[in-house]
Amino acid sequence: MQTNFKYLVLIMPSGHIISIVNHKGGVGKTTTACNLAHALAREGKRVLVVDMDPQCNATSILRGDIEARCTLYEILDPEENEISIENCIYGTAYNDLYLIHNIPETATIEPRLIRLMPNSLTLLKAKIRNYAVNNFDFTIIDNPPNLGTFVICSLYCSDFVIVPNEAGSRYSVDGLIKAVNFVDDVQKDNNPNLRFLKLLITKVDRRMSVCKAIISQIRRYFPIEKVFDTMIPSNTEFQKAELSFKTVIAYKSNASGSIAYQKLAREILALLKGQ
Ligand SMILES: Nc1ncnc2c1ncn2[C@@H]1O[C@H](COP(=O)(O)OP(=O)(O)OP(=O)(O)O)[C@@H](O)[C@H]1O
Ligand SMILES: [Mg+2]
Repeated sequence: MQTNFKYLVLIMPSGHIISIVNHKGGVGKTTTACNLAHALAREGKRVLVVDMDPQCNATSILRGDIEARCTLYEILDPEENEISIENCIYGTAYNDLYLIHNIPETATIEPRLIRLMPNSLTLLKAKIRNYAVNNFDFTIIDNPPNLGTFVICSLYCSDFVIVPNEAGSRYSVDGLIKAVNFVDDVQKDNNPNLRFLKLLITKVDRRMSVCKAIISQIRRYFPIEKVFDTMIPSNTEFQKAELSFKTVIAYKSNASGSIAYQKLAREILALLKGQ
């Protein structure tokens, strides 16, 4: 009898699910989710982005002109049991990069999820995890700027967390430890497989003294191995790319920000090699 080795390999669940988390707004979560995902796809990986934020910024950047009929709203709607996850995954303008869209109405589901707790917190995991790890090398979840219900749903479903932290604001360090401790609590109480991967320092402008001070403050609190070597420079191309509804990598592949996210993707691939 011939063994279908290819088939055996395909059914092994091997994908990683990474949540991008920080309850502070504007630190680069969405920019990291979209550009890291695009960079990983350009490294030959099959990548899914899940937009968990009802602000829908990742959806705006990645959707192109597709109007999704099935979105995160249907996935998280506790009364919706007929959803087939394959029908909620849409292509993007980029090869090997796929998206679960969000819509602003998803914000209205949160009170129902709170009422149905704790069962509702495992909804995302129950609906997407198996499919995602079997069909994608990486699933990157972009989260809203809080540590609320949607973020907890993401953490129950994830293997790793990346916490982006803006180097340009002195207030960002204050919340950082809170975010990392929150991940630790979910890991201890609800998802033993969850791991805080590393901190990512974003919006770095080495000419600014506040930036140098914040980087050294972060290094005082976090061991060097818990901070990515790659830092994301402050670069005006990010806003321009966002206004064109593109990743910065698609907008200008040789911009310093594009090069940094490509480097970050390679750092993550090396880190997770063999896992
Ligand atoms: N490295 C960077 N350099 C300059 N601007 C950046 C950089 N990263 C992100 N930005 C810009 O900063 C703004 C906030 O970024 P982003 O939307 O990624 O943050 P966020 O953490 O997802 O925000 P929110 O908490 O509201 O979801 C955006 O306009 C984005 O284009
Ligand atoms: Mg965002």
